[in-house]
Amino acid sequence: MAEPKENPLMEKIVSLCKRRGFIFQSSEIYGGINGFWDYGPLGAELKKNIRDCWWNDMVRRRDDVVGLESSIIMHPKVWEASGHVGGFTDPMVDCKTSKQRFRADQIFFSSVVVDGKTVDYVSVLESERTAEELQEKAETLKRRKAIQGKLDPVRPRDFTEARPEEIPLVPSPATGEPGSLMPPRAFNMMFETYVGALRDESAIAYLRPETAQGMFVDFKAILDTGRVRIPFGIAQIGKSFRNEITPRNFTFRSREFEQMEMEYFISDQDDWEKWHRYWIDWCREWLVSVGVAVAHLSEYNHPREKLAFYSKGTTDIMFRYPFGEQELWGIAARGDYDLSQHAKFSGTSMIYFDEATKRRYIPHVIEPAVGVDRIALAILCSAYNEDQAPDEKGNLETRVVMRFHPRIAPVKVAVFPLLKNKPELVQKAKEVRDLLRPHMTAFYDEAGAIGRRYRRQDEAGTPFGVTIDFDTLGEKPELKDTVTLRDRDTMKQDRVGISDLLPLLLQKIR
Ligand code: GAP
Repeated sequence: MAEPKENPLMEKIVSLCKRRGFIFQSSEIYGGINGFWDYGPLGAELKKNIRDCWWNDMVRRRDDVVGLESSIIMHPKVWEASGHVGGFTDPMVDCKTSKQRFRADQIFFSSVVVDGKTVDYVSVLESERTAEELQEKAETLKRRKAIQGKLDPVRPRDFTEARPEEIPLVPSPATGEPGSLMPPRAFNMMFETYVGALRDESAIAYLRPETAQGMFVDFKAILDTGRVRIPFGIAQIGKSFRNEITPRNFTFRSREFEQMEMEYFISDQDDWEKWHRYWIDWCREWLVSVGVAVAHLSEYNHPREKLAFYSKGTTDIMFRYPFGEQELWGIAARGDYDLSQHAKFSGTSMIYFDEATKRRYIPHVIEPAVGVDRIALAILCSAYNEDQAPDEKGNLETRVVMRFHPRIAPVKVAVFPLLKNKPELVQKAKEVRDLLRPHMTAFYDEAGAIGRRYRRQDEAGTPFGVTIDFDTLGEKPELKDTVTLRDRDTMKQDRVGISDLLPLLLQKIR
């Protein structure tokens, strides 16, 4: 439902993810469940590496950021204070005929105007080609209905902008026919559950729709541990849940996903724009350091008039996915709104006392918030590459290679005995694997021709391959106890001493 038009690159990436065990549809043997995904062996390693890199860079290597792991289910009042109970809604549209449900702001429509008169309406689901597709539909409609005259260019609007009298005239994207779309209505995206044995109103609780509230609610507790002083940040990685109306674009918009958020508290008198810029630059540089293609990154500043009343400014770091340019990381300057709300709803003071100036104030916050799954998808899209490489017989064939940054690659090194039926080669290869395994993910593979094994690792994005051959065993005495080290990207092979292998690889994967 609501999938964009076929996208050859995206299809290749999705198919590789499934074939190689990066990402599967959740509960696939039961037909799947929309908006939920499982990460297979390679995907789980990839995600873990993303989380570890972020945690190391954001928390462990800084003096001014501390970590937190708050619970997923919190007191229901948290979500009243945060505004999620009242306002965390998307405008939703039902199609009576197909029973499909759409986000109103993802249905685009236009009147079809010929010689200045509206003769009909066309609609499409939002894509990179929304305007072009609407124009094509308008032209087809004019031809099909043999309408004479000059067609005006279409003027795309989203369905939230439809006037009441236009609603019955706009075709449903599901059926192509008008008359079945209902007026948009607000739909709260929080998943509800019950805490305890009673299933009544008083037991309702929510799966958190963001990790951020944990940092605000625990602000006082962390402050009271005495380790932190303004400016400082609280960071957390964890699952969030949103009952998205139209989960789509593979893992991009899911119903269960993981966030990495950090709340950076600053003085109410500090220059928030300076900190905002600092964190935008930090996030951008960090993305590049884990292999997100810099050429696909851009920034989008939310227009002032679309910001929440308390917000001072929000900038999104955008990534050009194969299905279009989309939000990857949002960096918001939220003033003192969140802490003030929790002070009001809980009755607990959120005032900070500044020892140096003897001033009391509610800190302001800068919030860089990102989804691990969106980063994983941006990394998969950045890494996907096809080139030409010689096969066993020296003929060029297309090679699919995932050019992951070594820091983030699920498997760092693959170890191969040249032949599997030579026990001395196998034994030596397993010794080399055991030497490397305590320090990095090392994969042992003896199945099939060596060229095939290289190809399999290229698809998995393993940056280094180590082959144990007869020279390793001393066939040429001067090469005894050396191996070949193959570089995934250049396919170049160097002879390296086994004793040099570990320090060399550790340096390369850092
Ligand atoms: N605390 C602020 C907050 O949650 P958001 O823009 O709603 O802001 C932050 O979410 C980030 O979380 C987004 O930039 C995106 O990377 C990720 N994210 C949000 N909704 C998502 C979804 N349905 N599926 C996957 N990732 C999502």
